[in-house]
Amino acid sequence: VYKAAVFDLDGVITDTARFHYLAWKKLADELGVYFDENINERLKGVGRMESLEIILEKSPRRFSRDEKEYLAEKKNGYYKNMIEKITQKDLLPGVKELFFALKGRGVKIALASASRNAPTVLKNLGIAELFDYVVDAGRIKRCKPDPEIFLVAAENLGLKPGECVGIEDSAAGIEAIKRAGMFAVGIGDPEILKNADMVLRDLKNLRAILKLFDD
Ligand code: G6P
Ligand code: MG
Repeated sequence: VYKAAVFDLDGVITDTARFHYLAWKKLADELGVYFDENINERLKGVGRMESLEIILEKSPRRFSRDEKEYLAEKKNGYYKNMIEKITQKDLLPGVKELFFALKGRGVKIALASASRNAPTVLKNLGIAELFDYVVDAGRIKRCKPDPEIFLVAAENLGLKPGECVGIEDSAAGIEAIKRAGMFAVGIGDPEILKNADMVLRDLKNLRAILKLFDD
C-alpha cells in the first residue's frame, strides 16, 4: 500500500507549464530561433539550462557560456513576472480536493519539481503548508529523466520509493518516476505518457488516484 504522493508542479498542480512555454517563446522570438509546442514537450520537467540548450539547437549561431547564462536569466525574468500574479484560483481542477483527501488518509505529500521558482509558486497558490517535504531544486545534480529528485523526496519522507506514487505531466518525469521505482501516474496525453502505470486527463478523477492509497 502506498504511503506518499510525490507531485511534479508545472502542469500537474498549476498550469505554469504554459508560462514556461510563453517565456521561452518570447526569448526564442527575440533570438529569431524557431520554437513551437512540439519542441516545448521536450522542455517539460527539464532544468533551465538544459531547456536553453534544446532551444538553441535550432540556432545556427554558437553561444558562449556567459551568453547562455544571460539568456537563461532573461527567460527567468519573464517567467517571474508571469508567476507574480498567480493565486489560489490558478490551482488546476481537483488539486485542492485531492490534497485534502490524501491528508485525511494520512498520506504524505511531497514536491519533486526541477523549478527553482517552485517555492514562490506554492506560496502564491496558498498550498505551501500542505507539503510534508519540498525538494530543493538547487541541490539536484541530475535533471529528469534521472530519478535523483524522486529518490531524494522518498528519502526525506523516510519512505522506500516503492511506497510512493509519483505524479507527472511530462515524458521525462514519468521516466524519472519509473527509474526511481515508484508507481507512475501521468496527467495529460496518454500518447506522450505511454510509460506511465496509469494516465488520467486531469486530477478531477479523485477516485482513481485515491484507490491507490486505499487498497
Ligand atoms: C520544471 C519545468 C521546466 C522548467 C524547470 C526549471 O521542470 O517543467 O519547464 O524549465 O522546472 O524551472 P525554473 O523555474 O528553475 O527555471
Ligand atoms: Mg511538469
